[in-house]
Amino acid sequence: MDCMEAIRTRRSTRAFTQEKVPDEQVKQIIEAGMYAPSAGNQQPWQFITITDKNILKKVPGTHPYATMVPQVSVAILVCGDTSLEKFKGYWVQDCAAATQNMLLAAHALGLGAVWTGVYPRQERVEGFRKLCKLPSHVVPLALLPIGYPAQKSGTAQRFKEDRIHNNTW
Ligand SMILES: Cc1cc2nc3c(=O)[nH]c(=O)nc-3n(C[C@H](O)[C@H](O)[C@H](O)COP(=O)(O)O)c2cc1C
Repeated sequence: MDCMEAIRTRRSTRAFTQEKVPDEQVKQIIEAGMYAPSAGNQQPWQFITITDKNILKKVPGTHPYATMVPQVSVAILVCGDTSLEKFKGYWVQDCAAATQNMLLAAHALGLGAVWTGVYPRQERVEGFRKLCKLPSHVVPLALLPIGYPAQKSGTAQRFKEDRIHNNTW
């Protein structure tokens, strides 16, 4: 799949089959995250792979819009490590870039995933902090449940010529 095709055809997946995602593919998806650009190349990310069914089952209690998580064999929690920051405040953009790379990589591998937002909702940040025993300098940004899609998603038409401004508004 070429890059533009992956970008245009990626959609959120919220229904998954029970088939387990191979560890090698999970690693490839995280590798894609680690190739993201970051401010001053600081790479302030940490990734928690969540495979424990008990933890996966508890996620909807912490995140009301992540009810699909108990369906999957693995979810990846993308976190910012503020102790690795050289340029304060940029960790969110860095980790968001990593997250999008990961969604595209999952799609290119024939898998489905969805970005469920954690930061800046404080109650979700605290919930994941407890669930995954995160130290205080590690802030969860997004949880990505990953699996084989049990739904067909259509393509979207999102290009809007009128959102492009040349030189001045
Ligand atoms: C920052 C952010 C937070 C999101 N949070 C959730 C979420 O909590 N639950 C969910 O099901 N989808 C969530 N989404 C997915 C969006 O709903 C989805 O990307 C959007 O509707 C566009 O659809 P598409 O991903 O199929 O293109 C989130 C997306 C982003 C970028």
